[in-house]
Amino acid sequence: MANSIEVVYTPALLPMHEVKGKTVVVIDILRATTSICVAFQTGAAKILPVATPEECRVFKEFDFLCAAERNALKLDGFDLGNSPFEYQNPLIAGRNIALTTTNGTKAIKMAKELQASNILIGSFLNLSALCDKLSTLAESVILLCAGWKDRFNLEDTLFAGAMVNESASAFQLDCDAALAARELYVSMQDNLEQWVRQSSHAKRFQLLHLQTDDVAFCLQRNTVKLVPMLQGEYIVCKQ
Ligand code: MLT
Repeated sequence: MANSIEVVYTPALLPMHEVKGKTVVVIDILRATTSICVAFQTGAAKILPVATPEECRVFKEFDFLCAAERNALKLDGFDLGNSPFEYQNPLIAGRNIALTTTNGTKAIKMAKELQASNILIGSFLNLSALCDKLSTLAESVILLCAGWKDRFNLEDTLFAGAMVNESASAFQLDCDAALAARELYVSMQDNLEQWVRQSSHAKRFQLLHLQTDDVAFCLQRNTVKLVPMLQGEYIVCKQ
């Protein structure tokens, strides 16, 4: 029996799936999983996903950089927010980072609680490296969209659809959500940035007058050849 591939549109739906023994790819295109990929490309040592800013702040005492974002904004008093541009700073090389974001870190921790066998970090930046990694793991896969506060979002589902489209031959496709995500991606792929700029999260960025164009950055393809993955409590990246 070929391995299956499923798409879960929001973390609220994850408990409806059999997670144990499967590889979960956590997807938060705008911007947590993109930022995590960039952090390891810059040379971060390890990243600890935490649930709350209060918990995150504790790790300052252990020489961690502390990164906290809520509602797309960097929280005051923290070293980093969640824009991938912040993670290109060479000062993060070799550092441990404690990270809490609105949706992305929650999705990572939920996948761990539900006993996924592997938890990988996916973004358009490491899409090809991720497909290669999945083929070596040879396990059934759940593509978990972080969404927005347990609601569907466009960009994570488009990435999941791109993954299904890229790896179709390797998996048994019996999941309607995966089929729909693939068709959504195929229908939008030629104007992806235009579509994502119409998404609710891109509009949040506009309302907040973000200083950087995080949408364009997060839609870059294959600029990162690494696949960060959860090992125990930490996200690490073996070269
Ligand atoms: C998230 O974790 O939901 C997002 O990455 C939020 C953001 O950084 O805008």
